Amino acid sequence: MRVFFTGGSGKAGKHAITHLQAQGHTVVNADLLPSGLPCSELLIDLTDAGQVIGAMSQFSDFHELEAGTGVPKFDAVVHFAAVPRVMIGTDGECFRQNTLSTYNVIEAAVKLGIPKVIFASSETTYAVCFADGELKPDYVPIDEDHPTLPHDSYAMSKVCDEATARSFQARTGIDIYGLRINNVIEPHEYAENFPAFLADPATRRRNIFAYIDARDLAAFEPKMANPTVRDGYDNMYGVTSMLYNDGKEPMIGHWLGTSFSAPIVSGIAALVISANKARGRRLTPAQVKKILLKAQDPQTGIIKVTNIPF
Ligand SMILES: NC(=O)c1ccc[n+]([C@@H]2O[C@H](COP(=O)([O-])OP(=O)(O)OC[C@H]3O[C@@H](n4cnc5c(N)ncnc54)[C@H](O)[C@@H]3O)[C@@H](O)[C@H]2O)c1
Repeated sequence: MRVFFTGGSGKAGKHAITHLQAQGHTVVNADLLPSGLPCSELLIDLTDAGQVIGAMSQFSDFHELEAGTGVPKFDAVVHFAAVPRVMIGTDGECFRQNTLSTYNVIEAAVKLGIPKVIFASSETTYAVCFADGELKPDYVPIDEDHPTLPHDSYAMSKVCDEATARSFQARTGIDIYGLRINNVIEPHEYAENFPAFLADPATRRRNIFAYIDARDLAAFEPKMANPTVRDGYDNMYGVTSMLYNDGKEPMIGHWLGTSFSAPIVSGIAALVISANKARGRRLTPAQVKKILLKAQDPQTGIIKVTNIPF
């Protein structure tokens, strides 16, 4: 497929383009800046509608002139370009650039008959990330049904992008997929950042204790390549990984004030008590504790129910 990719010079885009090329796709990167990747590039400003439609409908490299059959068409658009958070420039400029770029990109794709658009939204739409103070999600684990009512201009721009996509999809019927991407982690960042994350998981609360490996962003590729998929607007948040700390779930501990293991252990203790009671044995709390400790795997600390004698 010939793919018009925006924002390929950025953190996430570089990994996605590399993956698309490895799958045999031809990628044209449209960005303000060069990427340094071995792909065709057009240096444009996506907030300018004329530049967007021009770039999508012209030759992008010398080799495309050789066939003599005119400008090749794009099969899909992947739109990653954006101001990627607040507090880079002004709030208003972040909103303006992101909403205008997304409108221009989808409108041009529709006008040129490109049948697939995939664009980057964000987990910040759930309002937690850039809240003033601590804002808890309505529920965890969070999913696509969680309300998106953010307070900051970046996340607002992504909610607006999603509305724009839904409207174009409703009007034209083309396939548009929005990816609510969470904090992108590149391979080298595990060694650099994760020791601190694991030492103090609470620092990860603004990202809902989650992240996505930059290499997993390519999970959108099957949607792009399948010409028969026509299910309209879609969120792909499920490609996100949770941050774990020694097998413990920091999200539950932070927001619910307890470790997630506490309700599980309580449940097992209740089963042990009732199973023994049914056999006429009344256990003291100390006996229950002893049974549970004996059932623990010495390596992992996990209680194996099969180790509990009945
Ligand atoms: N990095 C994350 O953790 C994260 C999390 C959630 C969502 N996202 C979203 O994923 C996408 C990619 O993020 P990233 O981290 O790679 O960002 P990035 O800042 O590294 O890359 C964005 C690219 O877009 C280009 N760009 C910005 N405005 C442009 C314009 N007007 N015209 C042309 N090009 C323009 C920039 O030059 C840059 O190369 C963005 O849409 C971002 O909002 C990122």
